[in-house]
Amino acid sequence: MRKQIVAGNWKMNNDLPQTQLLIDDLKKQKLTSDAEVMIAPTFTNLWHAFEAFRQEHIEVIAQNMHFSESGAYTGEVSASMLKSVGIETVILGHSERRAYFNETDEMLAKKVDAALKNGMRVIFCFGEELADRKAGNEENVVESQIKNALFHLDGDDFKNIVLAYEPVWAIGTGETASPEQAQDMHAFIRNTLDNKFGKDIADAVSILYGGSVKPNNAVEIFSKPDVDGGLIGGASLKAEDFFAIVNAF
Ligand code: PGA
Repeated sequence: MRKQIVAGNWKMNNDLPQTQLLIDDLKKQKLTSDAEVMIAPTFTNLWHAFEAFRQEHIEVIAQNMHFSESGAYTGEVSASMLKSVGIETVILGHSERRAYFNETDEMLAKKVDAALKNGMRVIFCFGEELADRKAGNEENVVESQIKNALFHLDGDDFKNIVLAYEPVWAIGTGETASPEQAQDMHAFIRNTLDNKFGKDIADAVSILYGGSVKPNNAVEIFSKPDVDGGLIGGASLKAEDFFAIVNAF
C-alpha cells in the first residue's frame, strides 16, 4: 500500500507571527484521513514550526537545500543544518526553483544525493511547461527530468523518494490538469520507473500531483489510482482549505 501524502508548500509567505497564526489554525483542524500531512514553511520559521508540531501529526519539511555540506555558499542551507532543527524531508526541484534560480537537472541530482546521504526523504518535483504540452511533448520532458536527476540512484534509494508531478502551467494559475490528464501522466511516470527499477519499486513510490489543487477538485484528483496525494501551494495558506484537501482522501 503506497503512502498517501498531502504537503503544503507555503513558499515565501508568512513571517513569524503569521506562521504562528497559521499553526494555531492548523491545530484546530480535525484529521479524518490516513494521509501523511506535511507543511513547508520558509527557512526562518522551520525550527519554530517543528517545535510547535512536535506532538502533532504534521511533519514540518523544507522547501529547498544546497548540495554541499558546508562552506562558502552565501545564503544557502545544507542538509545537516536542516536535520539539526528536526527536518527530515525536503522538497527539491520545484518549478519556481528551476525557473527563477536556474536549478538544473544536474544540480538537482547532486541535491538528491546530498539529502539521501543525510538520511532525508526527498519530494522531487518536475513537470512540463505549457509549450511542451501544446507541442505534445510532455512525456518526453517529464521522462528526461526524472532520468537526469534520479536514474543514477539504486532502487533501494526510492524508499526515501516521493515524486511530485507539477505541470508548470497549472501552478498558481487556477488551472488544473484534469483528473484524467493527471492519471495519464502518473501512470506514465510509474511505467518509466518500472522500466528502469522494476515493478516492486514503481508500485511502492508515492506520486503526488501539484498545481491548483483546491477543496473543490481534490476528491476527484485523489480518486485516480496513480495519484497518491498532492503538493499544495495557495490553498495550504488557509488551514480550513488545506485540511479540506487533506481530508479528501
Ligand atoms: P498551487 O502551487 O497549489 O498554488 O498551484 C502548487 C505548488 O507550487 O506546489
